[in-house]
Amino acid sequence: MKTLHFATLPGDGIGPEVMEVALEVLSQAGKRHDFAIDTSAHDVGGVGIDNHGAALPDSSFEACRAADAILFGSVGGPKWENLPPKEQPERAALLPLRKAFRLYANLRPGNLYPELSDLSPLRPETVANGIDVLCVRELTGGVYFGQPKETRQLDNGEEEAVDTMVYRSSEIERVTDVAITAAKLRGRRICSVDKANVLETSVLWRRVVSEKMAANAPDLELSHMYVDNAAMQLVRDPTQFDVILTENMFGDILSDELAVICGSLGMLASASLGADKNKHDLPFGLYEPAGGTAPDIAGQNLANPCAQVLSSALMLRYSFGLEDAASSIENAVKAAIRDGLRTGDVAQGGDTVSTTDMGTAIVERLP
Ligand code: IPM
Ligand code: MG
Repeated sequence: MKTLHFATLPGDGIGPEVMEVALEVLSQAGKRHDFAIDTSAHDVGGVGIDNHGAALPDSSFEACRAADAILFGSVGGPKWENLPPKEQPERAALLPLRKAFRLYANLRPGNLYPELSDLSPLRPETVANGIDVLCVRELTGGVYFGQPKETRQLDNGEEEAVDTMVYRSSEIERVTDVAITAAKLRGRRICSVDKANVLETSVLWRRVVSEKMAANAPDLELSHMYVDNAAMQLVRDPTQFDVILTENMFGDILSDELAVICGSLGMLASASLGADKNKHDLPFGLYEPAGGTAPDIAGQNLANPCAQVLSSALMLRYSFGLEDAASSIENAVKAAIRDGLRTGDVAQGGDTVSTTDMGTAIVERLP
């Protein structure tokens, strides 16, 4: 029997309660798919600041390093909003993790089940059949990490701030590979998003993506789109996309746009895949729900656990190679929704169930 060793970082707000559901679903899936889970929880985010004086305490970091993957909850909340931006839970926890574990490929599936299509702010006829788009965002390069990155005093007394957008071809190639692998398992179409009419990094991006695709995946369809147009096309008709491949900051923005189009953050998972292999010879990765900590409903057993559960399914798929178990969890979530079970965020005035009841409903639908 395979034992899955991963670090659990539940974080703040609704993080711990949805994490509990995800762990229960994982251990139940393990009974059916012959694996056991071996994990321990560590502080991160606001609770890390409160208990250890750092959003990413050393002890939590070391636990991640010893593991084969990280299952992440969510971090942040009003209590820490007045800290300097660099010390705030989101930035001070996530960016160092991305950097340290070289999590260069961020997969953000934009899924809207047809049963929930009313949740989308888009016209019913546009999304009647649901949405299924995958955003592949480069996560360790570009303007987020480029140097210099500083605020300086000019001779005339004025202040000047600089961020640097920089990409190497190797960084573009490896994330393109991830998009190719994903597209082959989906609709076989990649739309690469850039700003090649203005940015040098985008000119290189477009050329490297084209060369890589011509060499490694000539049978896949490749298109290019400027980011401003992509933002517009996503609201006009998201169903035109299969895989969107883009650099770090464009991906930050477009993936949030995709999320809102899909109606509920409580349903969206994500995977950040690292450059390093784990003990299973698969990518080390960090898996986290797209939604935030929802402080207004935290601790009340009201939160939607689906995104956390779906993130754990992505972990099974990418870091542990357990495709059958991953898809059976995804199907169980889909079945629970199809059977009308809804937490408040997706209920649209209808009957609601609690976080734990949703978890039970998912477990009951595991094959
Ligand atoms: C995200 C977040 C982060 C980002 C922030 C919290 C640093 O918005 O994961 O999309 O900008 O990447
Ligand atoms: Mg973001």
